[in-house]
Amino acid sequence: MVSPKLYTYPLSTSQNMATAGKVIKCRAAVAWKPNAPLVIEDIEVAPPQENEIRIKVIATGVCHTDLYHLFEGKHEEGFPAVLGHEGAGIVESVGPGVTDFKPGDKVIPLFISQCGDCVFCKCPKTNLCERSWTSVRYGIMSEADSRFTCRGKVILQFMGTSTFSEYTVLNQIAVAKISDDARLDRVCLLGCGISTGYGAAINTAQVTPGSVCAVFGLGAVGLAAVMGCRNAGASRIIAVDINEDKFAKARALGATDFVNPKKHSKPISDVLSDMTNGGVDFSLECVGNVAVMRSALESCAKGWGVSVVVGWTDMADFSARPIQLIAGKTWKGSLFGGFKSKDSVPKLVLDYKSGKINLDEFVTHNMPLEKVNDAIELMKTGGCIRTILDVSPK
Ligand SMILES: NC(=O)c1ccc[n+]([C@@H]2O[C@H](COP(=O)([O-])OP(=O)(O)OC[C@H]3O[C@@H](n4cnc5c(N)ncnc54)[C@H](O)[C@@H]3O)[C@@H](O)[C@H]2O)c1
Ligand SMILES: [Zn+2]
Ligand SMILES: [Zn+2]
Repeated sequence: MVSPKLYTYPLSTSQNMATAGKVIKCRAAVAWKPNAPLVIEDIEVAPPQENEIRIKVIATGVCHTDLYHLFEGKHEEGFPAVLGHEGAGIVESVGPGVTDFKPGDKVIPLFISQCGDCVFCKCPKTNLCERSWTSVRYGIMSEADSRFTCRGKVILQFMGTSTFSEYTVLNQIAVAKISDDARLDRVCLLGCGISTGYGAAINTAQVTPGSVCAVFGLGAVGLAAVMGCRNAGASRIIAVDINEDKFAKARALGATDFVNPKKHSKPISDVLSDMTNGGVDFSLECVGNVAVMRSALESCAKGWGVSVVVGWTDMADFSARPIQLIAGKTWKGSLFGGFKSKDSVPKLVLDYKSGKINLDEFVTHNMPLEKVNDAIELMKTGGCIRTILDVSPK
């Protein structure tokens, strides 16, 4: 048991009094344009407005979706922006109308909001929220509004969150309050990757005990999907990646079989079919590649197989032969693991504390915010699972 005391991050009352209601000047990694390194800048962060919360970010993970926006999606209108959406921090001050949060609370910013009032929030079948940037701004990947400026320019808040900044401002519908003893440099991972992969297996695929599963792509998202299949009681979990360095972690999280597509001349769906006598019960695509999405579907057993698209891309259409679905397979997608964000993230923090879910295993590197470009490079070259960036000086 780790003493909760170790994980207190003091935000003194005097510090809060000094900054509340004022513009804060702080460091952030700004993505000025696509395909270029981030630049550490001094930015201005406006005070929170009605229903908003200003957060001192303590730690953040780097997720492939940050790299997607920078190097793959490259929507010009989505820049300049502060990237980062997998963070955890402490409330610095709150705007008018905020009653459920106070300075000093530990929180996780949510890239999908949960307003509680919209048609999606009221429906138990989905975790979408009409008031989230995801409703209208998939390409730009940010809110229309921002509290950031730098060198006289408005800087967009990527995925509404922007955790590569010492301070950020979010509407209270996109913030989860978590327990006071949470270790922020671990639970930040619940802001995206781990919740996404884990939920994709337990909520979206609804993996059943004794089933045979395949997970394509063993980054943090795929490894969390492996963990979800394990916790759901799968009897066999086949881990598929072109980088064999990822297999050891997959084994530690519950994978039983390992396949490198590069080592096979026949389609990977045939390889999996031979290994399982007709295909897997559940497959999860955690790469973001439309060809892999197709293989994952084709790897499922006809009659009942369920394949879930988790990897992110809006660059290309996918395709498959209709017979795949006619013969009884189901093809689904999963955003943030199907978790209703504000309700679920605090519970996942408790699941980490009780040992039901792993987080420590996902952290391979730790760096200060200034090294963010090194962290991005590590992910690009497959050299990490998750790098945790220390954002605010202790
Ligand atoms: N749906 C969501 O809500 C959501 C949330 C977070 C991330 N994502 C997406 O999930 C994906 C994974 O994110 P991550 O942070 O784990 O990324 P990552 O880059 O750490 O991991 C991707 C893994 O896929 C492997 N891979 C690449 N090509 C492959 C192939 N052809 N076959 C098998 N494996 C292959 C890589 O070697 C790597 O291990 C990304 O597309 C990301 O944008 C989606
Ligand atoms: Zn809503
Ligand atoms: Zn992410």
